[in-house]
Amino acid sequence: MRLAYMDVQETLAAAFAIVRRKKKRYNSIVFIVRTSVPHRPAKMSGAKERLQLQEKFDLMPETLGGQFRKDFPPYIDGLVRSVPHRYVTTPEYAKNAEDIYNLAPRPDDIYVSTFPKCGTTWVQELVWMVVNQCDFEKGKKEQLSIRSPFLEMNYMLPMKLAEKFEKEAICRKANSPLVDKIMELLCYWNLMDWLRPFIRKAISLVMGDCLRDLDQIDQMAGPRVIKSHLPLYLLNPTVLNTSKVVYVARNPKDVIVSYYHYHRLLEFHHYTGNLEAFADYFMTDRVYSAPFFPHLLDAWNKRHHPNLHFVFYEDLKRNLRGEIEKIAKFLGKPLTEDQLAKLTEHLRFDNFAKNETVNCEIGKEIGLMNNSGHFIRKGKTGDWKNHFSPELNERIDKWMQANLEGTDLRFITELEQQD
Ligand code: A3P
Repeated sequence: MRLAYMDVQETLAAAFAIVRRKKKRYNSIVFIVRTSVPHRPAKMSGAKERLQLQEKFDLMPETLGGQFRKDFPPYIDGLVRSVPHRYVTTPEYAKNAEDIYNLAPRPDDIYVSTFPKCGTTWVQELVWMVVNQCDFEKGKKEQLSIRSPFLEMNYMLPMKLAEKFEKEAICRKANSPLVDKIMELLCYWNLMDWLRPFIRKAISLVMGDCLRDLDQIDQMAGPRVIKSHLPLYLLNPTVLNTSKVVYVARNPKDVIVSYYHYHRLLEFHHYTGNLEAFADYFMTDRVYSAPFFPHLLDAWNKRHHPNLHFVFYEDLKRNLRGEIEKIAKFLGKPLTEDQLAKLTEHLRFDNFAKNETVNCEIGKEIGLMNNSGHFIRKGKTGDWKNHFSPELNERIDKWMQANLEGTDLRFITELEQQD
């Protein structure tokens, strides 16, 4: 038996060291824990004066009960809606929104900005490759989420849920009753909040880096390719004048279908209803990241800004090579004929779906995704035709019409020819 006096971070460090090294074996270890670890908010290096985010967030009471809670069981804390922009997100993000808003942009940053399911991952890999001279070897070695961080990823899940995933991921990987016990005790003592930075480090050590928090993104070497689903007004207000932004849009019919499958696949959404009900949630702005049209229109209206490149998923489907060329030109990194040919092949759906650094199948290993499908799912324009009843399609048409009235944004929902 060993008796150890440590603070909580040392405790976990020691526990992991023991489990990992497997040199010494103790029948039992009693950890006496000092719980004085201070909470450390993100302290961004580049930020001179802290900017105040004007957007405020209010709980959406309807998301705490009734059919909504049945359809989205993991949303234990409900969702919140912002004022004045009516952006729908998680309470956890809301708590951290101002920190994220304060991440200082750099001149060599490239933001890949999208509403979810518009082809983010596809364009993220494209941009990373263009910026890194098509270094396919490096691309193979590291997950895209590490090469190109997802800005708000660590701040999306309700704490209790994040805690559950972190605990399960560690226990699954460590496969040791000792680790199970330690994790149970930490949850019991409510110590997970304090330990979160360390736990994330532990997950990275055991499973390979898979998450980056704001401090890490802040300190990352440039040029950074940063993914975000946040509308532009929730990013640092100097982003567009400082960095480059590639904004990807997709027609809402395919986005609804893709988002529906995604909400079933991801365990932190775990949507249990049908597609028709999901389309209703989507059209009435009761899904994460809603409302759809203002997100796109905000970027659409800025499309002539020299630092913003607006691209449609459907154009990538029609002419991938041509769109790669345009993005490379926008980024000031023209490609050789050979690089262009190789990158086009690399990004084709069939190759992309098999690529383990982008296809997110790793999410199944750590329990974030179930086996109901794949993150890189179908990759087609017009898949909605296999899903919508004529009645639902008509309702969606009316909704699109109402939201596009007075704007010059139009969508392509079918393609005669695509990859
Ligand atoms: P589907 O669900 O319609 O197949 P995001 O990365 O923004 O979450 O977008 C995911 C959508 O982009 C999914 O759509 C996915 O299959 C599609 N996608 C990803 N890589 C693609 C590729 N190389 N070619 C075409 N579509 C791709």
